[in-house]
Amino acid sequence: MENFEFYSPTEFVFGKDRENDCGQYVRKYGGSHVLLHYGGGSAVRSGLIARIKTSLHAAGLEFEELGGVQPNPRDTLVYEGIRICREKQLDFILAVGGGSVIDSAKAIAAGVLYDGDFWDFYCGKAEITAALPVGTVQTISAAGSEGSGDSVITKTDGMLKRGAGSPYLRPRFSIQNPALTETLPAYQTACGATDIMAHVFERYFTNTQEVEITDRLCEAVLLTMLKETPRVIADPHNYDARANIMWAGTVAHTNIVGVGRQQDWNSHGIEHELSALYDVAHGAGLAVIMPAWMEHVMPHNPMRFAQMATRVFGCEMDFAHPERTAAEGIRCFRQFLRSIGMPINFAELGAKEADIPALVEKFGIGDGVRGGFMELRADDITAIYKIAAHAEI
Ligand code: NZQ
Ligand code: ZN
Repeated sequence: MENFEFYSPTEFVFGKDRENDCGQYVRKYGGSHVLLHYGGGSAVRSGLIARIKTSLHAAGLEFEELGGVQPNPRDTLVYEGIRICREKQLDFILAVGGGSVIDSAKAIAAGVLYDGDFWDFYCGKAEITAALPVGTVQTISAAGSEGSGDSVITKTDGMLKRGAGSPYLRPRFSIQNPALTETLPAYQTACGATDIMAHVFERYFTNTQEVEITDRLCEAVLLTMLKETPRVIADPHNYDARANIMWAGTVAHTNIVGVGRQQDWNSHGIEHELSALYDVAHGAGLAVIMPAWMEHVMPHNPMRFAQMATRVFGCEMDFAHPERTAAEGIRCFRQFLRSIGMPINFAELGAKEADIPALVEKFGIGDGVRGGFMELRADDITAIYKIAAHAEI
C-alpha cells in the first residue's frame, strides 16, 4: 500500500425528512446570506425547494436564488452565480440537486474568491486556494459530488468539459434523504448506478500490490449496486434499496475506497468527451466506454480482471486461462448494464463513429501518454472508442 492522506470533512446528514433541517446546518457552518442554487425544475416541481425555503426562513437566513443548472453544467451560469454572490455579498452556497448543481455551486464558490477567470482552475492554469463554504441537499445518487472535492464544468465555447479538484471544494455538509430520489426516472437512476460503479472500477484497476482492504471495500460497493439497482428499477419507492444506493454512491467517491493505491480515471476522461459533444448523461456515456476500456486494457493484467469476475460477478475461475475468466467478467458487467436499461454502444447512446477522430483530438493527448492502470496513447484512445462504437453482448 502507498502512503496517503485522507481528509473528508463533510458532515453527512442521512435519512427521511432531513432536508427540513437544512437551515440549521447552514447556520452551523457559518452561513447568513445564502445563494440557493438548483436545477432545471424537478426540485421545484416536487415541492423540495419550497420546503428548503421554509427551513432557511425558520433559521433566520436571507437568501438569493439561482435555478436553471442543466446536466453537464455550463460555465455561463457559473459566471452568473459569481456575479450575484459578489453583488449581494453572499457567504454560503446551498446546492439542491444532483452532481451538476453541486459542481456548479463548487465552481461559483471557488470563483467568487478568485481575481481571475474561474475557468483557470479547470484548464490547469491555477490552483484553488480558497472557496466559499458549500452545503448540499442531494437529489440523485450518482456523481458522488456531495462528498468529493471535485467539480466538472463544461465551457460553452467549444463544449470543453473539464474537472477541478481541491480539498476546499468538499461540502461542509450534505443532506441525504433517499426518499428524494424516488421521483427519478428509471433511466436517470440507472445512469447514476453506472457512475457509482465506474467510480469504484476507476480505483479497483490498479498496479499497486497488497491493497486487500480497499479491494474488499470496492467489491462491497459493487456487490451492493448489483443487488440494489434492479430492486429500485423494479420498485422506485423501495426506500431501503434507495438508501443503500445513496450511501454506496458516497462511499464510492469520497476516496475512502481508493486511498493508498494508484488509480486510473481514463474511462472518465474518455467519457467526458462524449457527454460534452452529445450532451448525454455522464452515466450513460460510461456504460458505453467503461467495458470498452476494460476489454482494451485487460491483457495488461488478466488476473486483476479475473479477480473482479470471480469476486463480484461470481464467475468460475479458469486457472489455465485467466483471460477467459476476465473476459467473462467484462461480459457480465455489460450484460448488467443492458439489464438496467443502459446503452452499450455508440448507436444506442446517439454517438457517431465518424466523430472518433474529433473525440480523440479533443481528449488532447497529442503525441503524449496518459498514465494509469495501463498507459494510453492516442492509438489506444481511438481503439477504445472503436470497441465502444461496435459493442454487443
Ligand atoms: O435539473 P433537474 O430538473 O433537477 O433534472 C435532473 C437532471 O435532468 C434530474 N434529477 C435530479 N434529481 C432528481 C431529478 N429528476 C427527478 N427527481 C429527482 N430527485 O436528473 C438529471 C441529472 O442530474 P445531474 O445532476 O446532471 O446528475 P448527476 O448527479 O449524475 O451529475 C452529473 C454531472 O456530474 C459530473 C458529471 O460529469 C456530470 O456533469 N461528475 C461529477 C463528479 C464530482 N463532482 O465528483 C464526478 C463524476 O465522475 C462526474 O464526472
Ligand atoms: Zn463519474
